[in-house]
Amino acid sequence: MKFFVDTADIGEIRDLAETGLLDGVTTNPSLVAKTGRDFIDVIKEICSVVDGPVSAEVAATDYQTMVDEGKKLADIADNVAIKVPLTMDGLKACRTISQSGSMVNVTLCFSPVQALLAAKAGASFISPFVGRLDDIGHDGMELIEQIVDIYENYDTITTEVLVASIRHPMHVVEAARLGADVCTVPPDVLRKLALHPLTDKGLAAFLADWEKTGQSIL
Ligand code: E4P
Repeated sequence: MKFFVDTADIGEIRDLAETGLLDGVTTNPSLVAKTGRDFIDVIKEICSVVDGPVSAEVAATDYQTMVDEGKKLADIADNVAIKVPLTMDGLKACRTISQSGSMVNVTLCFSPVQALLAAKAGASFISPFVGRLDDIGHDGMELIEQIVDIYENYDTITTEVLVASIRHPMHVVEAARLGADVCTVPPDVLRKLALHPLTDKGLAAFLADWEKTGQSIL
C-alpha cells in the first residue's frame, strides 16, 4: 500500500519525505488556508520535494472553470493530480482532464456508487472519506470494503482507492487489510504508525545492556 501525507505544510512534507516512506501528498483548500501561503507557490514547492502524485484541488464548482483551473494546476509540474469534487460537473471535468493526460483525484466520496461513477469518468484516484463517515455514526471502513470489492469485479477499472480522512492508525491497518491502494495520512498519525511501547521498552533494555559491555561499534 502506498502512503501519502495529507497536509500542505512544507516543513512536515520535507521531514517525512526524508524517511523515504512517502509516495505522494494530498492537499485540500482547508489545508492550504492553514498555511496562509499562496496556493500555487505551495503546490510548486511540494512538487519540488516529492516525486509522487501531489493532489491540488480546484476551487470552482462549474465544469468549464474546473477544467481551466485544472489546466493551470497541471502546468505546475508533471506530478500534480487535479482534485475535483464528486459532483456531476466534477465527474465531467474528471473525464476531460484525465483525457488531456493529467491525473485526477475525485474527492469527497461517501458512497460506493459515487466511486463507481468516478472510475467510469477516468479518475486516477477515488478519495472516500472514512473519518467523516465515522464522525456521523456510519462505518467508513465498510465503504472502503464495498469500493474495493466493486472495483475488483472489473478488469477495466484502473482507479486507485485512496483512503482519506484518516484519524488514527487503525484506519490504516483496516485499509491495508482490505487491499486499498493508498492511504493519505495526517503527519501526526503517520508518525504514530512507527510507535509501539514495547519497541521503546525493548530498545531501552538493549541500550542499557550494551552500555555494560563498554564496547563501541565505531
Ligand atoms: C483528502 O484528500 C482530504 O484532504 C482529507 O483526508 C480530509 O480529511 P479530514 O476529514 O480530516 O478533513
